[in-house]
Order: sequence, then C-alpha cells, then structure tokens
Amino acid sequence: MLIRESLSLRLVLILLLATSRGITFAQSLRDDADHRKILVGAAVNPALFAEAPYASTLMREFNMVEPENVMKWGAVRPAQDKFNFGPGDEVVAFAQSHEMKVRGHCLLWSEHNPAWLSKGSFTPEQLSNLLREHITTVMKHYSGRVFAWDVVNEAFLANGAIEPSIWYDSPGIGFAGKGTAYIEQALRWARAADPKALLFYNDYDTEGLNAKSDAVYTMVKDFKKRGVPIDGVGIQAHIFNFDMKEISSLAANLARLTALGVQVHITEMDVALPLDARGALLDQAALARQADVYRFVATACLQQPRCTAFQTWGFTDKYSWIPGYTKGAKGRALLFDQVYAPKPAYNALREELEREHKNPSSGP
Ligand code: XIL
Repeated sequence: MLIRESLSLRLVLILLLATSRGITFAQSLRDDADHRKILVGAAVNPALFAEAPYASTLMREFNMVEPENVMKWGAVRPAQDKFNFGPGDEVVAFAQSHEMKVRGHCLLWSEHNPAWLSKGSFTPEQLSNLLREHITTVMKHYSGRVFAWDVVNEAFLANGAIEPSIWYDSPGIGFAGKGTAYIEQALRWARAADPKALLFYNDYDTEGLNAKSDAVYTMVKDFKKRGVPIDGVGIQAHIFNFDMKEISSLAANLARLTALGVQVHITEMDVALPLDARGALLDQAALARQADVYRFVATACLQQPRCTAFQTWGFTDKYSWIPGYTKGAKGRALLFDQVYAPKPAYNALREELEREHKNPSSGP
C-alpha cells in the first residue's frame, strides 16, 4: 500500500515538473495545433458524421472544419427562391459541440452552381441582385458561427487573366472587361453582410511564384491600397506531382502576400499519389515522398506568423475527391488511410507542429 502510494506520488511529481517546464503531452494533431495557436482543419461532409470513426477522428485531430460542398450555391440554393441551410447547419452544430471553428466555402464560383442559375438567362442587373442577395442571406445566416469565408473562389486563369464566367462576363454582374472589379463588388457586399467575418480570396496553383499568383498578389495589393475589404488569401495546395518545382517558392509567396497585411490560409491541401488499375498504391515509397510534401507546406506556413490556418481537403483516404477527379489514376492523398490509421504524412505534420520555427524574414 505504502509503496503504491509513493509510486503514484512520484508520478504526480514527474507530471507537475514536466508541465512546469512546458513539456506537453500532445495526443493529437489538434493538441499540437492548439499549443501552436494555429488552426488545423479538414473539409467535411455532414452526411458522414454518423460514421463513428469519421466523427471521432475529426473531433480528435482538428480544431477547424469547412464544408466540402454543402455551403456552395448548388447545395444552398436548390431554387431561386429557396435556401437550404440544413446540411451547412449540421456542420456548424458539429463544430460547436466540439469547439471547432468553421470556415465557409464559397459565395462566388464559376462551378458547382445550380442548373437554374448556370443555364438560366439573366441580365447583368438580375445576376448582380441575385449575387448580392445570396452573399447577404448566407453570411447573415451564419454570422457569428462562420469566422471566415472564401468569398470568391478560383477567378483567375493560369496566365493571370480573369477567367470568363457567369459572374465576370457571361454575362457578368455588370463589370465585364473590368478586371477584378466584380471581385471587389462581392467583397464589399460580404463586408456589409457580416462585418466581423474574415473575407478571403481562394485559388489553386497559386502556391509558388507564377503568373497566376502574381495576379492574385497584384489584386490584393490594389485592394489594400484602395481600402477594398479583404482579410486573407486562401492557397488551396492540391498537389499532383512531387517534384516540388511548382511549390518551391511557396515561402517567398507567403512572405509577399502577408507583407500586404493579409492572412494566408492553406485551404485544401492534398497530395495525390499514383494508383494501379485496381486502385492500389503503385509504389509504397510514395508515402514517404507525400509526407515530405506535407512537411514542406506546413513548415512554410509555420514559419510565417500570418499563415494562420492549415487545412486538408478531407482527412481520410476513404473519402476524397481525388480518385473521382483523376478518373481513378490518383488517390491516397490525405493524412489518414482508408481505415482511419495515420499515415507518414500525419506524423510529419505532428513533428513540424512540435518543432520550433523561426520566421526567416525576422532574422536570427
Ligand atoms: C470539390 C469537391 O471536393 C467535390 O466533392 C465536388 O464534386 C467538386 O468540388 N477547389 C475547390 C473545391 O475550391 O470546392 C473543390 O471541391 C476542389 C477544388
């Protein structure tokens, strides 16, 4: 009895000592992220919350969620006069009961629009009214519950030109041929709808320095100069090859964007691996290379104080858009495998979160 008591007393002392020295006992990615005061999130589908390992992994490992599809126009706006907030509300309820933040996605995109909208024939004035009404209604509905919105998604082409779309020029909301003016209008409506929400522009293939990320940078610089409301830039980080060439200048891009006074979120990261005809990994060694890519992006974000969130597009290989998008050629892109076991990429992320990082631009 005495021996047992003194053993447990010793254990308590060791724990106290470790805690007083700042040694943490992180059990999960979420613990690590909370400790680093960074958001680590995943895109989610509320229809899967009923699957026990899906829900338990999500709440254990992440402190932020973003609806993968259910806050897009196609889901929220089944008919012109009908809003459907049910599935989005489920995401918010899940997040609230597990003390997670919610990122909203998205209010203006050329894709995932309902047929009544994309195939309808509207004048620019009608479209403008529709968009303003949509941004206002959706943001007010989620006000205080969605802390940041991708207000505009994927507006640029690879060469930096504005992508033709229903919102820009076909027929557009009244700013056809006027560059980023329609994005500016959407941001102004968004700020008016929910002044407390952080407003983001979000895009893909904008990790490194290239014509498209130059265009995003130039737009944000102009917006900041003229007082157009914008709080952040989302960098999707869907990575389809590992040569790292395209993302090698990520740190430089984060540095120039954050120097404008905006935050950056890594919003949709996944690293697609080649699969064989039966859907199995072509090469097991790819898992280690995948971990290196995740580590590289996470490190760049952690080194930049204004990179405030790191999010993956899903979290289990059981549910990912990559196999569908690549017609089965690629997959296994996420942090957990198909039975929710953590992969090398997960361990790499935890290692980086537990390591000290210095901002390279802040000197030694
Ligand atoms: C994808 C979803 O993952 C799919 O389920 C859906 O069918 C199409 O959209 N960039 C984005 C995301 O901003 O909204 C996209 O999500 C992936 C690419």
